[in-house]
Amino acid sequence: MRIDKLRLSQYRNYTSLDMRPGPGINAILGDNAQGKTNAAEAIFLCAFGRSHRTARDSELIMQGCAGGYVGIDLTNNTGAHLIELKLRDGERKKIYIDRQQAAKTGELMGHLNVVMFAPEDLAIVKEGPAERRRFMDMEISQTHPAYFYRLQRYNAALKQRNALLKEQIQPNAEMLDVWDQQLAALGEDIMIDRYDFIDGLSTIAYDLHRSISGGKEALEIAYEPSLKAEGDFYGEMMDALKRSVTEDLRRGFTTVGPHRDDIAISLSGVDLRAFGSQGQKRTAALSLKLSELTFLRELKDEPPVLILDDVLSELDDSRQRLLLESMQQCQCFLTCTSLEGVKRAGLNDIKVFRCVSGTMEEE
Ligand SMILES: Nc1ncnc2c1ncn2[C@@H]1O[C@H](COP(=O)(O)OP(=O)(O)OP(=O)(O)O)[C@@H](O)[C@H]1O
Ligand SMILES: [Mg+2]
Repeated sequence: MRIDKLRLSQYRNYTSLDMRPGPGINAILGDNAQGKTNAAEAIFLCAFGRSHRTARDSELIMQGCAGGYVGIDLTNNTGAHLIELKLRDGERKKIYIDRQQAAKTGELMGHLNVVMFAPEDLAIVKEGPAERRRFMDMEISQTHPAYFYRLQRYNAALKQRNALLKEQIQPNAEMLDVWDQQLAALGEDIMIDRYDFIDGLSTIAYDLHRSISGGKEALEIAYEPSLKAEGDFYGEMMDALKRSVTEDLRRGFTTVGPHRDDIAISLSGVDLRAFGSQGQKRTAALSLKLSELTFLRELKDEPPVLILDDVLSELDDSRQRLLLESMQQCQCFLTCTSLEGVKRAGLNDIKVFRCVSGTMEEE
């Protein structure tokens, strides 16, 4: 899978951009605050329909402008495609796939597969469960658009149930039951997909980490659902929701369900979330991201586009080498403030773009 063209207009600090990346490694080189991450974000946006940095689309529009545009020409194993996003201040963004307007953001999923590795991704292991759920959700949605819709519906039902819990001392039992049933039905499918995903990813991550660490470390990841159920997820979730009503009322939100799930991450038997060193957490995060790359490549039968935003400098030499090796297998966008690390790794055949205050010139 590769991006042939990235076009921006009144997007962040780009008045207009027409970038023609190469099929291999594309280095976006520039000082701080010139627009490197903005360009990476635009690619991410076309893959997921949302920014990795903000939930507010209005921030994406160039300040002082009424609207903005992002367009990507890409080639994947189904042929050439055009993805476009039109942003207007105060309106919902419009998404077009091959010039047809998409009714929902979810329709975008799977057209452009992207693995993005940015400094904040190093937090997958370090931060709380919400970060790890986000990781799962993004990845499963890329390969499984139905999951994305289910998750949206689950979150909508959850919001309704929580509103009911907050409002009333003694909630209407019938209303509560309606939301319980929806949460249990959707929750069941969400849990099954999460089990499947982590199952596939864990084998890849284990092997990959073993080779990074020269056979010394065993990285194990496991799905850690908030509901410890076996077999009948629906029935057990219904029971759990009923059991937790008193507690839920007291706390004003739903305390059980997939919205409270986590991923357990351990290194040679030690829980990294609680006991890992900074370096271990960082390496595990890298292994997870690179596993995702292999996972997507195997599933989709073609490599995804890799975006590395500002991460090379955060890693030691051996991790950098590993990352650079993975880059050889796919189209890659790499942002950096200097080419030193890239040169040191002996990478050649790179297309270099110099980014200066919202412009990009090929060198
Ligand atoms: N909506 C917007 N309109 C105009 N300019 C914007 C908008 N949003 C962000 N910017 C500008 O974009 C610049 C930041 O761009 P970006 O985050 O891509 O920098 P960068 O090149 O990745 O820098 P660094 O090396 O520090 O990560 C800032 O100057 C910021 O003011
Ligand atoms: Mg940046």
